[in-house]
Amino acid sequence: MSYLDIMFFKKSKNNKIDINNLPNHIAIIMDGNGRWAKKRGLPRSAGHKAGAKTLEKITRYAGNLGIRNLTVYAFSTENWKRPQQEVDALMELLGEYLDNYKKLIGDDNIRIRIIGTKVGLSDEILDKINVVESATAKNDGLTLYIALNYGGREELVNSVKKIAKKICDGELIVDEIDEGVVSDNLYTTGCPEPDLLIRVSGERRLSNFLMWQSAYSELWFDDVNWPDFSTKDLNRAIADYQKRNRRFGGV
Ligand code: FPP
Repeated sequence: MSYLDIMFFKKSKNNKIDINNLPNHIAIIMDGNGRWAKKRGLPRSAGHKAGAKTLEKITRYAGNLGIRNLTVYAFSTENWKRPQQEVDALMELLGEYLDNYKKLIGDDNIRIRIIGTKVGLSDEILDKINVVESATAKNDGLTLYIALNYGGREELVNSVKKIAKKICDGELIVDEIDEGVVSDNLYTTGCPEPDLLIRVSGERRLSNFLMWQSAYSELWFDDVNWPDFSTKDLNRAIADYQKRNRRFGGV
């Protein structure tokens, strides 16, 4: 065995994943589309297009692997600050994705849910969301949560408002508010918390993504830009996750 063979063997052995111990929920911050495009002298919209292709590939792979929940950060409440041309390109891409999700993901059994505030989204996008959510509601394979117009702080404010309204309406009393009540009023209600949260492109922050839900998520950072993220990279993240000792504050 050559040195290279040994290194390859070691690497693949370390990246081997235990199919019986998969994270139930993986969340991904799909970052670096702009840098990917810049490196190639392309417009930022080309980076997002390439990122959408990576999303198709990773969704299909995760579903086949047996991952039950996948949440991806597609557009944050702060992303409206980007140049109008880029916002339009992202919305167009999302619209195309929602129109063609079956062909793109290649799996009839994926359930799609959109999380985030509806405020600011066009009627056209809202209609497409309704169609896709209803059409996939009964599917019982992987659930793909697309965080669209999503911000963790906005989500918490929204949850507080909903709870306050329930109190005003006499449906709830203040002493009944606990972590479960807050969770139940988030956009992710009914969705398990992420076990593994991945951020690519070398950045190491949460950027307002699933802040309540990721309190005990295992974090994995990768330097690769999202359009270049491969199924091997996902395997590496899962393999590392499987080596971790999750204590949730216990011993
Ligand atoms: C961050 O990269 C990425 C986004 C703000 C958009 C993510 C969108 C996609 C991957 C494609 C569309 C999604 C769907 C569901 C079709 P960036 O633009 O901030 O990159 P940079 O940090 O290199 O500039």
